[in-house]
Parts: sequence; C-alpha cells; structure tokens
Amino acid sequence: METKIISSCDDNGIKEAARILSSGGLVAFPTETVYGLGANALLPGAAKKVYAAKGRPSDNPLIVHLADPEDAEKYARTGETYYRLASSFMPGPLTVILPKKEIIPDEVTGALDSVGIRVPSDKTANKLIRYSGVPVAAPSANLSGKPSTTSAAHVIADLFGRIDCIIDAGEAKIGLESTIVKEESPGVIRMLRPGAITVEMIEALGFRVVLDKAVLSKLAEGERPLAPGMKYRHYAPSARVILYSGTPESVERALLSHSGEPGAAVMCFEEDKTLSKLENSRVIGRRSDRDNTAHRLFSVLRSFDLDRSVRTVYCALPDTEGIGLAIFNRLVKAAGYEIINTEQEQK
Ligand code: TXA
Ligand code: MG
Repeated sequence: METKIISSCDDNGIKEAARILSSGGLVAFPTETVYGLGANALLPGAAKKVYAAKGRPSDNPLIVHLADPEDAEKYARTGETYYRLASSFMPGPLTVILPKKEIIPDEVTGALDSVGIRVPSDKTANKLIRYSGVPVAAPSANLSGKPSTTSAAHVIADLFGRIDCIIDAGEAKIGLESTIVKEESPGVIRMLRPGAITVEMIEALGFRVVLDKAVLSKLAEGERPLAPGMKYRHYAPSARVILYSGTPESVERALLSHSGEPGAAVMCFEEDKTLSKLENSRVIGRRSDRDNTAHRLFSVLRSFDLDRSVRTVYCALPDTEGIGLAIFNRLVKAAGYEIINTEQEQK
C-alpha cells in the first residue's frame, strides 16, 4: 500500500488526511503523548484494519479520540466525575473509561461495554479530529509489542506501507501514553495505566486514587487486568531488559559489573557519571528531571533494536514520584517484571 507522508504545517494535507480517515482509511497522527494510528470509530471495518496493520490482538480495545470533552455525550454515559476530571485535564493526556453507547461498534472496544474517551491537546490531533467530523479510534502507532512511537520516524519504521497516511509533527511532547482512569465508586478513581496526569494531580481534585494491580506487578496466569492491553509484554525492544533497584551506588556497581559482558548494553541516567561514559551505555535522561526521562524513554528503548549486537539491556530503576510512576510502569513491563534488588544481593 502507498503511504502518504504529510507535514503538520500543511493544513490542506491535514484536510486530506481527515477525508481519508472519515472514509475508512488509516492515518497515523501526532498527539502530545505518543503517535496514534487513527481510524473512523463508527466504522467496524476501519477498526479491523487497525488491528491488522499493528498485528494487534483484537480483544485489546481502542481509545476513542474527540475534539471536545462534551462530544463524549454522543458515544458514552458521562457523569459528574467525568466532567470534574475533564475540566482539569482535558484537552490533555488523560483517558477516561465510561459505559459506552450503542453507536460505538464492538470492534472498537474489543466487545467490552465500556469505551476509553480521550481529548488530545496536540493542535494537529485536534485539527484532524475536527476536520474529519468523526470520533477517531486510535491505539499507539507502533507494531504490537514494540515501544510506542514518539516521532514520525518511528511510525515510518513500523508502519510505512501498511497504512494510508502519516502526519509528521516531529517528536511527541510527553513521550509516554495517556493516564487511563475509571470511576470505581463515588469519589474513588482506579488508575489502570499511569501517565503524565499523575496520582498526585488527581488526588489534588479531592479523589481517592487506587492503582490497578497490573500497574506494578505481574498478573497471575489467567488473571485479567481492567485495561486488557496491560497484560501484554509491551514497550519492549527485542533485547532482554533487566532492571536493578537499590541505592544509586549499589545499582551503579551492579550495572558496571555486567557492562563488559558480550551483547550487554546499559541504560542509565545522566547523573551516573561512570556509567554514562561507557561505550555501550545510553542515557535515558536526568534522574532529577522525570519529564525529560519520559520524553526520551521509548526512543532509547527503540535504539536498542537498531543495534543487533545488543542482547541484554541492564537498567537502573527510577523512583515512582509524579510521572516517575509511568516511567517505572513502562520499564517493568519492558522487563517482563524482572527486577533485581542490588542491596539484597550484596547482603
Ligand atoms: O496516549 C495514548 O493513550 C495513546 C494516544 C495515541 O492517544 N493511545 C494509546 O492507545 O496508548 P493503546 O491502544 O496503545 O493503549 C490503550 C490502552 C490499552 O491498554 C487498552 O487495553 C486500554 O487502553 N483500553 C482501551 N479501552 C479500554 C476500555 N474500554 N476498558 C479498559 N481499558 C481500555
Ligand atoms: Mg499501545
């Protein structure tokens, strides 16, 4: 299939992409979190094409992207909690799971009776959705199992020739997917996936936040997470990822001891002076600047795929404050929940 590449500066191009989208084609587009692979959410056939292009299991539901929070009325049963969250965080990197209305086909929601609603703040995303005049079902624009795409170059690497169009707007601002939440009971929010809208930010609105088990730990065989996508080994480069927790000093010692192994690579922070100078190390960001780490994480994970000699990636685990929880979540998933505690090891 021929894939058109359109610049986000080309307004007529975005209009053309919107026509492709509304008439059933697939368009990859930038959002403030990661790139999305958009399809008309009202056409069951378009959703099926998304699953095929990504190689994604069809029980994994797609988020529906809208231009305005109020548009959710047409597709889902909203309520006070939705509007409290929306007034603080929409447009922005938040997805709210709501009971779905009939108009959203089962193909979009993996036959669930709920739908994820998100209103991206990215200008190009907003234009594309507005011009198309339809709700846009979009997963992250990567091949299933690969790290999400945070630049048009990543999308081209994964999906060129498999979709109709890619809108190029350079790098995504945040770099990690949206926070996904669901009202558990009045005043209580369950977080299914952490992101740039943090636990602390939602608590500041007066809600109690409970973290879904799948965020931090591996589910038992047969156990089902609330967000079906959380069960897959995700965000992963081809190489095996092994995480180390402990004090910066003990982690540094452990990573240094592995760095000389054949096929080893090290992922570390800028502050790790010795590690960051190693020939086979890559800096994911500054330990003190979680936004910067979030922004770079997927790009660094993807870079290991470009180097076939890398078989194992050794990495320091970040803390879980603020967006740190989202970084932690993506890393433990990439590592298949394998974490080595360096302090225990030395005792
Ligand atoms: O930032 C984002 O959310 C990006 C951009 C493109 O908007 N999208 C994204 O989509 O990350 P995707 O498909 O890669 O991840 C969506 C996650 C999956 O884990 C899926 O299982 C969950 O959301 N999800 C979607 N609809 C759901 C529903 N009705 N109930 C529970 N989980 C749902
Ligand atoms: Mg995804």
